[in-house]
Amino acid sequence: MKPRIAVVHGPNLNLLGTREPTVYGTTTLAQIDEQLQRLGEQLGLRVDCTQSNHEGVLVDRIQAMAHDQTRFVIINPAAYTHTSVALRDALAAVAVPFVEVHLSNVHRREAFRRRSYFSDLADAVISGCGGLGYSLALHWIADKLLTKAQT
Ligand code: DQA
Repeated sequence: MKPRIAVVHGPNLNLLGTREPTVYGTTTLAQIDEQLQRLGEQLGLRVDCTQSNHEGVLVDRIQAMAHDQTRFVIINPAAYTHTSVALRDALAAVAVPFVEVHLSNVHRREAFRRRSYFSDLADAVISGCGGLGYSLALHWIADKLLTKAQT
């Protein structure tokens, strides 16, 4: 069975493509998810993508990972990065390793975006590489899982 990787997108990321294109680019979320599905097939990973604008829905999705064999999470918590103890606690509770991804470089923007409730728990953080950041995260996870399988 292929290792299962969950991709979780937070609020307003459904608007990618038209949302502040100078900050977030013109690639849509559907295009990012398609690229990840294709890459997952090449790397031998099963990729499940979810987006929600609702914190509780995202908490429920993360809680489900305790029972659905998810091996790794790629999460862009979007605005919840800077506010959500609930999402942080959910990730800590299920204890599935995760990569935090941001399309923009959050450190080059407003001061409030520099605080993340996730980075100190994350295995890796990618910020400022646009949509490519998700693919980089998937490559890194594939490498990590493969190395683990060999040791
Ligand atoms: C974001 C950065 C956040 O500060 C912002 O609220 C987002 C997107 C990013 O991908 O760059 O919605 O996570």
